[in-house]
Order: sequence, then structure tokens, then C-alpha cells
Amino acid sequence: MKIFEPYSLEGTKLNNRIVMAPLTRCRAIDNTPNELMRTYYSQRATAGLIIAEGTSPSANGLGYARMPGAYTEAQIEGWKSIAEGVHENNGKIFVQLMHTGRVTSVLNLPENAEVVAPSAIHLQGEMYTDSKGMQPHDKPRAMTQDDIISTQDEFVNATKRLVESGIDGIELHSANGYLLEQFLDPKTNVRTDVYGGDYKNRARFILETAKKVTAAIGGSKVGIRFSPYGVFNDMSGDYKDIVEIYTYLAEELAKLGLAYIHIVDQRVAMNAPEFATDIQRTIKNAFKGNVIVGGNVHSAEQAEHFVNDGYDLVYIGRPFISNPSLVEKLKTNEELAVPDYDTFYTADEVGYTDYA
Ligand SMILES: Cc1cc2nc3c(=O)[nH]c(=O)nc-3n(C[C@H](O)[C@H](O)[C@H](O)COP(=O)(O)O)c2cc1C
Repeated sequence: MKIFEPYSLEGTKLNNRIVMAPLTRCRAIDNTPNELMRTYYSQRATAGLIIAEGTSPSANGLGYARMPGAYTEAQIEGWKSIAEGVHENNGKIFVQLMHTGRVTSVLNLPENAEVVAPSAIHLQGEMYTDSKGMQPHDKPRAMTQDDIISTQDEFVNATKRLVESGIDGIELHSANGYLLEQFLDPKTNVRTDVYGGDYKNRARFILETAKKVTAAIGGSKVGIRFSPYGVFNDMSGDYKDIVEIYTYLAEELAKLGLAYIHIVDQRVAMNAPEFATDIQRTIKNAFKGNVIVGGNVHSAEQAEHFVNDGYDLVYIGRPFISNPSLVEKLKTNEELAVPDYDTFYTADEVGYTDYA
């Protein structure tokens, strides 16, 4: 089957077309990647490509408890060790750069960090904190143009340092309602400067960031994740220029030679309604390069279906949690272990590195 064949991702040699989706697992005590995480990723290195969990390039972007960062010496050392572990097991690993923006409780942030977003629009609802349990999200401060530049610099610095440490590439997290998507969606971006308003302006922060990051390490080591029509973290789902904005992004990102566009299907596991248009195809046609799709894949046939449908790589998330040797199991049609949802975001090895 095609999904089990090697694939060149703009020069990164993958052993197969199965991608381990980014999965936040909250094991990075003090926001620093550790030996336990090295073991976890090494166990899963038979994925063609691992996209490691959302990792903040900035103290301001560490919205979740025990989410890893990539801006201190210790954090970069941690990622270096993880890259070594994955490479020793013949795998490849990108790190997903995720700035949570307004999806934050200050209790999860280090001292002197603050909640920033395109506009000062409060996300209703609560999130988990280690110190006080469930707490309301904190209202963000609208980013100034200086904040925009310094945040982009943080993305560039994290990217450079990760790649220097041996990580194979980075993915910009522009999905699921975090900072980058907060710029795209008119519900969370009501700016009146060149970063708000029409779709080209709302795409500007992402395109500038992508441009700076690709200038630093080359487009072939950079991917991006989008969740069009997504509603997670109170995003709009549909809005009037949604097709225009994603078409424009795909065309502009193609010019930067990005390694891939990764499209989350939030109809799976995240309660989004049916897509109003075939947005995945629109993005593929406009981008022309590699596109990763997936969601709810539990068999080789399901994965192969996406490749036969014209997409390039297939992401799989939750099954990788409970099946470290997932690729082998898919090949042999072995029954998959079901993940324990109660240990998705706990702090230790239980439900993390102890799956057979
Ligand atoms: C525990 C958990 C953590 C997740 N963390 C992230 C994340 O850090 N970044 C991201 O883009 N998506 C994240 N997702 C979404 C997954 O990458 C994936 O899109 C989703 O699980 C659907 O795929 P699946 O049906 O194969 O699990 C997470 C999902 C789960 C279940």
C-alpha cells in the first residue's frame, strides 16, 4: 500500500506516509522537555513523521499547564535529547510551535508573562491550572505593532534553535483557536491596523511569520496547520471570506516553498459542523504541494483512502497514544488498544509510556 512506502517530504526522508499528529500531553514539568518525553517519542518513531505536541516559542504562549517551551537553554537541551532518541530509532520529528494567545490562564504562565492576542476579546469558559484547578481564561491585552514584531522574533528564535539542536523542522500552529488562528478569524481580530479588516490583512501576521521563519531555516523544514470551519476555543466556524482567506494563504505559502499544509478536520472529536465547502480540496489545489489530512483513522484502508483521494500524508492522533507501534499494527491489521482519556493530560508515565 502507498501509505507504507517511503516518501520524500521536500527532502526529509520519511519511512512511510503516516504522521503522528501533534498531541498535547502535559508531561513537560516546568515547561521543559524531559527524559520521559524522550522515551515517549522514541517509542513512536516508526511513524513516518512525528509532529511533536504544541510547544511555545514564548513565555506568553504557555497557556496550558506543563506545556513545553522552546525558548530557554534547558528547553532546547530537552528537545535535542528527544531528537536524538527519535533519530536513533530511525524516525523524523518536527516540533509544533504553538502560542496560545487568549486561550490562557495567567496561573499557567511564568512570572512576567502576559496574555496577549490580536484584540482584547475575552474567551469565556475555564481551563485547568495546576495551582487552583479550573479557572476562567484571562482577558488578553491587544498586541501592539511592537508586540507583533517581538512575537514573530520569538517564533524565529525558537525555530532556529530547534533546528540547530537536531529537530528536523517546525510546524506553525495556525489551528484550533490559538494565537495564529485568532488573527485569521474576524470574531477574534477586530484590529483597525494592517493586521485586521479584510482577509489579506488578517492573514498578514501568519504570512509574515512564515516568511521570517522560512528565511531562517528554509521552507522545506517548515509546515503549517490550519483548521478551517473549526469551532474549538470559540472560533466562528464559517465566516464570509473563509474560502478567500485559505485560498490566499495557500497560494502565498506555496511561494515560500513550505514543506506542507496540515489540515485538521474538526468534525472529528471537536464538534465542528459539516464543512460548507470542500475546503481541503480548495487548499490542495491552491497550494499544490504536500497536504496532510486525516482524523478518525483506525486502519490502513482508511489511511490509504486519503492518499488515493489525492492527498500526500495522513495524520493519526489518538491511536498513537495507546499504540506506540501503530504502523506495524496497521500493517498486520492487529486490533488497536483504546486510549485512556483520563490520562491524556496527567503528569507522569501512567497512560503515557506504559502502553505495549
Ligand atoms: C490529547 C490531545 C491533544 C491534542 N493536542 C494537539 C496539539 O497540541 N496541537 C494540535 O494541533 N492538535 C492537537 N490535538 C488534535 C489532534 O492533533 C488530532 O487532530 C485529533 O486528535 C483528531 O485526530 P484523531 O482522530 O486521529 O485522534 C490534540 C488531540 C488530543 C486528543
